[in-house]
Amino acid sequence: MYAQLVKSEGSKSRDEMTPEEIAFQDRIDRNEKIEPKEWMPEGYRKTLIRQIGQHAHSEIVGQLPEGNWITRAPTLERKAILLAKVQDEAGHGLYLYCAAETLGVSRDELLEKLHSGNMKYSSIFNYPTLTWADMGAVGWLVDGAAIMNQVPLQRTSYGPYSRAMIRICKEESFHQRQGYDIMMKMCAGTPEQKAMAQDALNRFWYPALMMFGPSDKDSVHSAQSMAWKIKMNTNDELRQKFVDQTVPQAEYLGLTVPDPDLKWNEDKGGYDFSEPDWSEFFAVIAGNGPCNAERLGARVKAWEDGAWFREGLMAHAAKAEDRARAARHAAE
Ligand SMILES: [Fe+2]
Ligand SMILES: [Fe+2]
Repeated sequence: MYAQLVKSEGSKSRDEMTPEEIAFQDRIDRNEKIEPKEWMPEGYRKTLIRQIGQHAHSEIVGQLPEGNWITRAPTLERKAILLAKVQDEAGHGLYLYCAAETLGVSRDELLEKLHSGNMKYSSIFNYPTLTWADMGAVGWLVDGAAIMNQVPLQRTSYGPYSRAMIRICKEESFHQRQGYDIMMKMCAGTPEQKAMAQDALNRFWYPALMMFGPSDKDSVHSAQSMAWKIKMNTNDELRQKFVDQTVPQAEYLGLTVPDPDLKWNEDKGGYDFSEPDWSEFFAVIAGNGPCNAERLGARVKAWEDGAWFREGLMAHAAKAEDRARAARHAAE
């Protein structure tokens, strides 16, 4: 299945490759890590910049829907947990921007592309967080889907990306647990609280399924990315794993997954389920989701509001360098 996919979707065959490309592919096939200063095909570099950049943007835009609830967390303990989680996401963004920078793109360039709409972030963050139960659903489903994606990426071929993923995954499992813990609390609460939990699941189920990207038959970059081990599983494989993991968790909560066609399939050893509405997915990606303008507006404002601080840091660094130069001069 994997070999078939790689062949049919346009990754280069060996006789189309240059000797350099063959040597590079052999290193990847031996599970060697590719490091920043080493030779790599231009397509590999570009695909990684796009993927890591998009991932970094998703981490920092992903702070916004949850940041929305920090001031309204129901208890001091919940507030402290949510704060820690949202701060972790900022850290994930930073590791990933650093990893992208090793490929020869600056953080400023990446952010400029985010702000001008030329680079994307995960479509999930263009949905609103309407109630406290959404903090549960986001941690449980959105961080849960992120883990599903990121655990295999710990083995990705590019060294800095792989190492960033190892650290990020440790924190993501805390995020998923804190979300599920909120859901457990709400589901053990009053009928109104349980109804809020159900409503949050209803709204986030399909957007969470969309996080794995379009169906394999419509996914353009898969084959080459898989040959390069930038992508380790297909979108549909990961989506299936996510559904199989999440349905029993919903049952444990006493909640209903909003899919009348959801059914255990003994033969495949997994659930059959309805596809998300892909026209909605493409509309959100194109900028027409419920919160696209608000999210991008918040990012641009944060960038502009922080200009004085970045300039201050640069001025300080320039002065420190001058002082160091003067001291060296005096010592000579
Ligand atoms: Fe994260
Ligand atoms: Fe997270």
